[in-house]
Amino acid sequence: MDFEIFTGSIATATTDCIIAGIAADNQLTPSAEVLNKASKGYISDILNEGDIQGKPGETLLLHRVPGVTAKRVLLLGLGAEKERHDRNHRKVIKAAMDKVKAGRFNSAMFALDDVASHDPDLYRQVRHLTEWAGAELYRYDETKSQKAEPLALTNLSIAVTADQSEVAEFAMQDGVAISNGVSTARELGNLPGNICTPAYLADQALELGREYDSVETSILDEAEMAELGMHCLLSVGNGSEQPSKLIVMHYRGGEANEQPHVLVGKGITFDTGGISLKPGAAMDEMKFDMCGAASVIGTMNAVAEMGLPINVVAVVAAAENMPAGNATKPGDIVTTLSGKTVEILNTDAEGRLVLCDALTYIERFNPATVLDIATLTGACIIALGHQATAVLANDDALAREILEAGEQAADRAWQLPLWDEYQEQLDSNFADIANIGGRPAGTITAACFLSRFTEEYRWAHLDIAGVAWASGGKAKGASGRCVPLLCQYLMNQAAEEE
Ligand code: BES
Ligand code: MN
Ligand code: ZN
Repeated sequence: MDFEIFTGSIATATTDCIIAGIAADNQLTPSAEVLNKASKGYISDILNEGDIQGKPGETLLLHRVPGVTAKRVLLLGLGAEKERHDRNHRKVIKAAMDKVKAGRFNSAMFALDDVASHDPDLYRQVRHLTEWAGAELYRYDETKSQKAEPLALTNLSIAVTADQSEVAEFAMQDGVAISNGVSTARELGNLPGNICTPAYLADQALELGREYDSVETSILDEAEMAELGMHCLLSVGNGSEQPSKLIVMHYRGGEANEQPHVLVGKGITFDTGGISLKPGAAMDEMKFDMCGAASVIGTMNAVAEMGLPINVVAVVAAAENMPAGNATKPGDIVTTLSGKTVEILNTDAEGRLVLCDALTYIERFNPATVLDIATLTGACIIALGHQATAVLANDDALAREILEAGEQAADRAWQLPLWDEYQEQLDSNFADIANIGGRPAGTITAACFLSRFTEEYRWAHLDIAGVAWASGGKAKGASGRCVPLLCQYLMNQAAEEE
């Protein structure tokens, strides 16, 4: 797919379809006005007939508009100004892309001026347009015998004025990179557990290292992890035939001596619950339990593509959680890499067990900040539903930076408290800490568990259990969240350091 910025006259642009906005109460936007003038009032005549009112996401496809070179004009409802928030902006772009795909157009040009969103920032408008149009091009067919028909669309352009073009070019490049990162994360999430194993994730990370000179990947196998003392991580994979992996990716875009930002992803490639077996209903969706890892790998992809001038280390703790004769049992006690002992009262609280050792491991990189991303708790879905990523942090300024990045990226997060009062729920009679804290505040006590291993650095935990995928039925599939938030966070760090 070629993405391009166009600065010529839209009336004479050669494309299969120009997409122009109609505001609420059938008002012409500037680009629609240009086309209306070129066609001597053809568009306003149609508006006067009432065929389109300009509600968000409404469309009307016109063929051979007089005086306009493009084969077609797609009128696209944008709604009233106050309706043009991120959610509608995205809905409007999806509506246009649905038409573009259904019509099997080879090319299309968005001519939405800068009025499709009430966000005053042109960079963000163009980036979101690119990201969200790009997202509509993703299709999963890897494990279908009938592959999806190749896309007809090969060229997607965005029309801007000449003085906007420099910013728009950057925005589009960033948008393409982020959209590729999101697609990478979705694909890894959607692949089934019998294909996307810990070893498969490791191979994908190694592949990224081969693709970019700026990325270097290394893998620790079980023997190497045992040698280091990562017995808590290893205990999760005991019942599995699939060997656990610790995946370490270095992206070097900053000075050699600059402290890296570290991302740690939960990579449970299938979570049966282990001996504390999950109920059967919708258990297939536990193939998505590696979406934290997928978002980390997708973000590394985007960061390398953008060439951000910072250092980033991404670590994935990958294992499969299975019941078996040699699986970890409730009551078993393991020693973590930190030396602390953990009583595993429930083998289904396994994410924190792999993460805690990874979080200790990364101390060696002297991190500037550490973010871990995990589909960690069902309780997170009860607290925040499917809208927001939960953020818990040992540093409020860091939490605020993440919430802000989420706002900017339209990939929102919400903070939950990490007060000391919750810590005692993890007391154990037999070990330093228990791996569960009872039913109250399940997302918070999971973060409390992790906080015992992150005292050495500024750290935030992102629980994406509610947002990483859509459940059930036709919508079932990975979302690629929170790749946009993570990219934005790292871009903001890069901008700060400049
Ligand atoms: N991967 C699950 C959390 C999860 C469940 C995410 C459903 C999304 C949808 C995690 O490993 C888990 O099983 N957590 C337990 C923890 C409990 C045993 C303390 C949970 O949330 O029930
Ligand atoms: Mn579990
Ligand atoms: Zn899990």
